[in-house]
Amino acid sequence: MNYIVSFCLLCVMSACSPDNGNTGARPPGDGGETPDPTPTEKVLKDAAFPVGAAIEPRYLDNEAYVNLLKREMNSISPENAMKMDAISRGRKQYDFSGADKIVDFALDNDMRVHGHALLWYYITPQWIKDFQGDKDDWIEIMEEYITDVVTHFKGKVTSWDVVNEAVDDDGNIRSNDIWYQNIGEEYIALAFEAAHKADPDAILFYNDYGMVWSKTRRDKICEMVVNLKKEGVPVHGIGLQMHINTDTPKENMTTSLAAAAACGVYVHVSELDVATNPSNSPTATYTRERAEKQKASYKAMFEAFGTIAQDKRYGITFWGVADNHSWLSLRPDWPLPFDRNLKKKEAYYGITETFGE
Ligand code: G3I
Repeated sequence: MNYIVSFCLLCVMSACSPDNGNTGARPPGDGGETPDPTPTEKVLKDAAFPVGAAIEPRYLDNEAYVNLLKREMNSISPENAMKMDAISRGRKQYDFSGADKIVDFALDNDMRVHGHALLWYYITPQWIKDFQGDKDDWIEIMEEYITDVVTHFKGKVTSWDVVNEAVDDDGNIRSNDIWYQNIGEEYIALAFEAAHKADPDAILFYNDYGMVWSKTRRDKICEMVVNLKKEGVPVHGIGLQMHINTDTPKENMTTSLAAAAACGVYVHVSELDVATNPSNSPTATYTRERAEKQKASYKAMFEAFGTIAQDKRYGITFWGVADNHSWLSLRPDWPLPFDRNLKKKEAYYGITETFGE
């Protein structure tokens, strides 16, 4: 399923709000920033593992947003600023400005940085689409890009999504991936080896979606990672994106997390959001029922993550902070723990309730 395409088609059909915001009623209790927590009140980074969010450089110009990140998070992932289409301006030509802004903020505030993503078929710059060469030429430009980017962030970025979404819904290596088309499946191993050579201390992840609802995807991804490890390829973790919804069974969460941990690697819930409008209704509004179901889903996810061994828990990263920043906000949906005013939602308390005393 190419969920981005299907989602965009939905937006065209449902005449999505042009304000990139939610078209439904604002979450109950909306209005104003969240007051600072009392000394005894838990915050998200009180979890027994790192908790982070995907952010955009421009959000760091908002003081309330920055204060929330400092209060709640100890890990940061650039949502888009480290992607090839954001960084690469041509061969050996880079614009790291957006990514550097995020990295500098994170390091200034003792937050871990998780790099996303070195290779992803979906965002290939035009100069690469136009590139002509044989297999060795393609390997050269791939390794060159990875080496330059990882070297730029060496010592600053703790971990990387080296390859994102290489597996399709049938459990095959995605044929619409330009690197696969020009190098073959070995591009995956070569990518990890290039990243490791550039920064031997970096923790390297394979990142993908759908392990939570597809046994086919789950089995293929685990088989691929285990085989890569057996071949001595430096794959250290699996990122399960976890773009879930309020209908996702907790059993699916525990099963997919356990499968990833059984591969003998770190497990990162790398892009967590819980859609509250799973039927994609264009007329959905944010109701108390949706709020309570989302609270239960977030609580289930954090409880499920707590069932894997402590030494495998790389952390949980939300794919955004506030609902109106979400990639899902083009339709009526409220997928994140904070509302558009940065106020904590019921979902937030579902998470902190799992932290115990
Ligand atoms: O920065 C440009 C801006 O200059 C331009 O004016 C504007 C309109 O064309 O586009 C802006 O770039 C957009 C970018 O987000 C930053 O806002 C791209 O068009 C848009 O396609 C891009 O969407 C991102 C998408 O990945 C594709 O990169 C979403 O924000 C982001 O949430 C989404 O995240 C992905 C993960 O990386 C991988 N897993 C799935 C997840 C959801 O699709």
